Amino acid sequence: MALDLERVRHQFPALAGNAVFLDNPGGTQVVKNCLDRMLDYLIEANANHDGAFKTSRESDALAARARQAAADFLNARPEEVVFGANMTTLTFHLSRSLAPRLGPGDSLVVTRLDHDANISPWLLLARDRGAEILWVDFHPEDGTLDLADLDRALEKKPKLVAVGYASNALGTINPVADIAARARAAGALVFVDAVHYAPHGPIDAAALGCDFLACSAYKFFGPHLGLLYGRRELLEELPAYKVRPADDRVPFRFETGTPNFEALAGLLGTIEYLEELGTRFGEDPEAEPADDPSGRKRKLRRAAAAVRAHERTLAAAMFETLQAIPSMKIFGLTDPARFDERVATFSFRLGDVPPRRIAEELDRDGIYAWDGHYYALETVRRLGLEDKGGMLRVGAVHYNTLEDIARLGRSLARIAKA
Ligand SMILES: Cc1ncc(COP(=O)(O)O)c(C=O)c1O
Repeated sequence: MALDLERVRHQFPALAGNAVFLDNPGGTQVVKNCLDRMLDYLIEANANHDGAFKTSRESDALAARARQAAADFLNARPEEVVFGANMTTLTFHLSRSLAPRLGPGDSLVVTRLDHDANISPWLLLARDRGAEILWVDFHPEDGTLDLADLDRALEKKPKLVAVGYASNALGTINPVADIAARARAAGALVFVDAVHYAPHGPIDAAALGCDFLACSAYKFFGPHLGLLYGRRELLEELPAYKVRPADDRVPFRFETGTPNFEALAGLLGTIEYLEELGTRFGEDPEAEPADDPSGRKRKLRRAAAAVRAHERTLAAAMFETLQAIPSMKIFGLTDPARFDERVATFSFRLGDVPPRRIAEELDRDGIYAWDGHYYALETVRRLGLEDKGGMLRVGAVHYNTLEDIARLGRSLARIAKA
């Protein structure tokens, strides 16, 4: 069954106003159940962990529930889920644990289609360990990764391949399972940045065959909290940078300091919302997820199917709307027959109008969108736009409507004429 947009939007207090949120790739609005759980936690159970009293016990119980929910969301085991401040912090932290595996003569693969949070940690690790960086390019004409370039890099037997699930600049979904298989065959570990993909589709860390995968709850309707999946055997093997009294078991030894319990509560609330979405809407997955005693994985996949179907409609409408604007240049995949390979994130330029000015003009019409490089520095450089103000990005998620896109079209038509 298709999404009931009115019902969906009702769950997001921030959507009650008149603004059109197309800044979603930078961060989504927060679902009510997340807010409720955060507030409840801070009022009812706020305490540090591992104490001999009620609120502390409740805090630990809540963290365990949030971890199980996150594991179901990623199709992983709870002990494979590490929480942290955000994806960037978790990635830097992990890179430090991987450092002893690298030395001169070794190499790491990064791509020009990635957000800098999946590039800089690896550049700095390579610098510190005297290792080489191998760059994988993308095709500037359609924003897809150059897999021949990847294969060439893999001939050098790199130690790690860092790749994004979807581009936060161009919206391309990378064939991550295929990339992971090629990388593994070459003996590399695989790190997947799923931050941009997470609000748009199901994540199945086990099926992807990756070693690590990171995402961020504030990009999928939740609080500011990072999630890192790590294959259990690897997490067991890697050295952890931790204080001595802290729990030495996996995954806790990779979590520094006091957990952000209110964010964990919020994450649980967010995943409960998605689960509820899957109870009402979407189609049953083709294959029943294994190891799913609560049935949550199945519901989350149903929710992802409903979200994906609605977003496909939004992507098609957004593309048509943008294309109808004079002097529009859209970057990335523009062939509607291939829209399964992208999410509804579009970056464009409008004649000579600086992207910052477009963003300001859109804001006058109550439409929020990002301009610049949005930390996809290499992508914007490769497109020759770094010193030209980058691009203007609009990104839809499941709570956006066709009316949002119609308003975008009217506003852009005004800006193009001015
Ligand atoms: C694709 C992608 N990766 C990584 C990040 C960084 O995530 P965080 O803010 O959780 O560090 C972002 C944030 O914009 C992103 O879009």
